[in-house]
Amino acid sequence: MSTIKPEDFFKNVISHSKEYGFIFPSSEIYDGLSAVYDYGQMGVELKKNVRDYWWKAMVQMHENIVGLDASIFMHPTTWKASGHVDAFNDPLIDNKDSKKRYRADVLIEEHVAKIEDKINKEVEKAAKRFENFDATMFKSTNTRVVEYQQKIDEINARFKTALNDNNLEEVKQIIVDLEIVCPISGSKNWTDVRQFNLMFSTSMGAVTDESNIIYLRPETAQGIFVNYLNVQKTGRMKIPFGIAQTGKAFRNEIVARQFIFRMREFEQMEMQFFVRPGTEMQWYEYWKKARLNWHLSLGLGSDKYRFHDHLKLAHYANAACDIEHNFPFGFKELEGIHSRTDFDLKQHEQFSGKKLQYFDPELNESYVPYVVETSVGLDRLFLSILSSALKEEALEGGDTRTVLSLPYALAPYKAAIFPLVKKDGLPELAEKIMKDLKFDFMVAYDEKDTVGKRYRRQDAIGTPFCITIDHQSLEDNMVTIRNRDTMKQERLSIDSLHAFLTQHTSLQSLLKTL
Ligand code: GAP
Repeated sequence: MSTIKPEDFFKNVISHSKEYGFIFPSSEIYDGLSAVYDYGQMGVELKKNVRDYWWKAMVQMHENIVGLDASIFMHPTTWKASGHVDAFNDPLIDNKDSKKRYRADVLIEEHVAKIEDKINKEVEKAAKRFENFDATMFKSTNTRVVEYQQKIDEINARFKTALNDNNLEEVKQIIVDLEIVCPISGSKNWTDVRQFNLMFSTSMGAVTDESNIIYLRPETAQGIFVNYLNVQKTGRMKIPFGIAQTGKAFRNEIVARQFIFRMREFEQMEMQFFVRPGTEMQWYEYWKKARLNWHLSLGLGSDKYRFHDHLKLAHYANAACDIEHNFPFGFKELEGIHSRTDFDLKQHEQFSGKKLQYFDPELNESYVPYVVETSVGLDRLFLSILSSALKEEALEGGDTRTVLSLPYALAPYKAAIFPLVKKDGLPELAEKIMKDLKFDFMVAYDEKDTVGKRYRRQDAIGTPFCITIDHQSLEDNMVTIRNRDTMKQERLSIDSLHAFLTQHTSLQSLLKTL
């Protein structure tokens, strides 16, 4: 899909997801629920395989990392201690005419992005005009570009100060001064800026009052922090060690757009790595590299990933970065790697009154461990894989095909089994092969339409291998196996199918590349 515009390609990803049973809007018969999605019959398999690959790479491949499945509901003080009750906020602003709600910071960032676009256009124009063009030199000498850059720096500095001072009046003033208009109404008729807490709350038990307020967890990490000593003691874990967890998280996002990129109910895969204070930077570098390698092992293209180091650190972090992925709408955060110091455990010590220290037998002393965290959104990862894999390919003879080039080990079905015709004993042999394989592999069976059409259907859902049973198979016990990507066909004995699929489609084949 090289010539297609990015926004059109993104629409294709969304419609393909729906058409082939990967993702549906939640409660669609009631017109859906904003920023909530359901995974269909194909989506649930792909998602499970991605989750399994992460789990195996983290837990099975590391003797010092174990798993956990903490509850979504936690004692409300957890969220006081973690800082989420007081500080897990986004600045919100409404346009009085359109009644639309925006994140004030996003309005300002989008304004800055428009100025950046102007700079890029100037650079592109100049690059076409001059040979041996030096973009850095041009940016620092061209008057118009220098003015644009100064404007950006001024806005960023003003905005950063306003946020640091929690000065919401100033945030509104910036929007007014920049003459930002509502994209729907076109007016500058804004309300004041308010802080909006992103946690969903409900009440526990029959009595509804303040004391029963309970939150849906906005991150899975806190379940790990509060259980860290339980796991350490019962598992006799020695530092450095990690606890991994996958599970749902909930955020009442003000602006939830871009399909499953930003949802209100989503799944996280997080790992907290507990280390000796003073060694955290070394582990931070280790996990940066390990996690990037994990993404690269999917084979979707090394140019699709980059690091973005955080310049402005959260108060609890002493280093943080994102692994960004080139989504159809540009490079955006896929995974966060954070060196969170001893902030969370110390906060939980203080709020619970319980000691959360680790006794280090090598140093013969107790301390609160430092934590390096890796945190990736499963749905975002799903989107990164799906959108990188979806391709429209030109075929000989002017035809095209839609193919989902998923890593074989992640594909919903590993193979599809086709009897060439619906008679002469071919369906019976196909069903026998299917029965043998289905204990270990997800396999599809299809006997409708021409084999060509059946290939297209499997290409569109990413099935790596199609196995056709023909009349010859009844005699020589051989079948035709066709590769999704090369479309090449070879004859293989029925007895070797199991070993063939194991070799090419097991998660082991991906894990070995790490
Ligand atoms: N415990 C750290 C933490 O939660 P985060 O950067 O807020 O850090 C981690 O979230 C990851 O979770 C993100 O990199 C992203 O992949 C995913 N994520 C966060 N908010 C999301 C949302 N609203 N929808 C989908 N994924 C989200």
